[in-house]
Amino acid sequence: MKKNFFVTTPIYYPSGNLHIGHAYTTTLADTISRYKKENGYDVFFLTGSDEHGQKIEQKAKENNLEPKQYVDQIVKGFINLWKILDIDYDRFIRTTDEDHIFAVREIFSDLLQKDLIYPSSYKGKYCISCEEFLTSEQMDENLQHLVCGNKAIDFEEETYMLRVSNFQKYLQELFKTDFLEPEARKKEMLNNFINNDLEDLSVTRVSFNWGIQIKENPKHVIYVWLDALSNYITALGYKTKDESLLKKFWSKDSEVLQIIGKEITRFHSIYWTVMLNSLGLKTPDKLLSHGWILSGDKKMSKSIGNVLDPVEIINNYSSDALRFYIINNLPTDKDGNFTNELFIESFNNNLANNIGNLISRVSNMIIKYFDGKLNKIDVSSHWLVKKGFETIKEYKKLMDSYNMSEATQVVLRLGQECNKFIEDSKPWVLEKEQKIDQLLEVLTVLQKNIIIISYLLKPILVKSYPSMIKQMGLNPNLITFENIEGDFDHEKITEKLVLFERIK
Ligand code: MSP
Repeated sequence: MKKNFFVTTPIYYPSGNLHIGHAYTTTLADTISRYKKENGYDVFFLTGSDEHGQKIEQKAKENNLEPKQYVDQIVKGFINLWKILDIDYDRFIRTTDEDHIFAVREIFSDLLQKDLIYPSSYKGKYCISCEEFLTSEQMDENLQHLVCGNKAIDFEEETYMLRVSNFQKYLQELFKTDFLEPEARKKEMLNNFINNDLEDLSVTRVSFNWGIQIKENPKHVIYVWLDALSNYITALGYKTKDESLLKKFWSKDSEVLQIIGKEITRFHSIYWTVMLNSLGLKTPDKLLSHGWILSGDKKMSKSIGNVLDPVEIINNYSSDALRFYIINNLPTDKDGNFTNELFIESFNNNLANNIGNLISRVSNMIIKYFDGKLNKIDVSSHWLVKKGFETIKEYKKLMDSYNMSEATQVVLRLGQECNKFIEDSKPWVLEKEQKIDQLLEVLTVLQKNIIIISYLLKPILVKSYPSMIKQMGLNPNLITFENIEGDFDHEKITEKLVLFERIK
């Protein structure tokens, strides 16, 4: 039976254009999705937009537009960004989609009937811009929200509450498993929320209109988080006539990976798992909560205004260059930096000087010394070919545990070994001394390794991969994890392409 894999990103707020931080999460998801497909998985990749709430309502007003008109225009920009960044999702869900709205109402009614949601009122400190009631740990002494810097206000209103407090034992057991990564985030959630007095969550509002009205009491609209979190299952048809996608991708036969930024870990690891448990659905197999992209020492964010525009970076350089920086230079377990200088330095060192240079040196020598095609010989026992095969194993192990940055670095190291091997074996001397057998062996070994390197970088370097492989005289669709260690029939190479030209 074919294995199934479901990967999700957060659905982003269309309160403005997306920045590099959003491109980060989505590129992680796209890369792992492509990798899983190479491994024969049937993949469903979900992303989208979180369109309801007070903040959006306000933004629309500022722009003299109806909320829906306002979000329509911003969401166009989301979709364009994903297109030019080669993000190959299966569904872009909008919380204003009919099927989503229908299913969210059903979810609410279901939980109300089970008495897991109850009518009440709520009083507390509230951050309007993040649409979140805050605990004292989340504010500084001036009541400013530590994440966005906006001042929290006093707020009381009639609301329906989700009985999160009933689930303390359940959560404590869940947090003994390794569903949430990295480990440090688990401790944070346990100490700050779960083991302290775990509070019920307010899930409706009466103070604004731009949201999904509940059937039971039209004064109330569903608070964005219950609405938003549900997207992960409504996108698969939950509570609709056709639940086949849900059965396929949110089931024990499927691996579920949810990638988020660390500031929304609480919503996903606590409220979302409580919701799932209440609905009788499994928890995700992995919740990967990655660090932030910082600018200076602050989170890059719209409200601070220190953001970089991914569209500009793609237009100035390329989508592959951006994808590569994200995957290679931003390991998910830490906060990372994104500056123009670091970006150019990484591109030049890794793609221009290492991989690009390797491919062009080897293909040029194949053209020059062997008229574009090498005679077939067996090099499978050569130490550097063995090293290449080991690299595949190591890479897979790291990718399977979602360590995409380390996996990439293993491949880059193989590239460096190959460049060093060229220096050490000096093919130009072998040719001068007419040691043709040795020359053939050296180039065959290098060619095999370049195929491995290119294939392992395929999920990242989406646009460049076909040219990389063509430089080895092969059809890019030919190579799979199953056949990569074998021999191929190569075409004659004639063209000298420059891949990954240095950025000045
Ligand atoms: N709409 C909610 C999510 C609902 S999911 C059911 C939301 N939207 S958001 O537009 O604010 O996007 C937040 C997400 O964008 C983060 O969780 C992360 O995935 C990504 N990032 C935004 N800024 C980021 C950084 N500076 N660094 C890393 N990731 C960032 O929250």
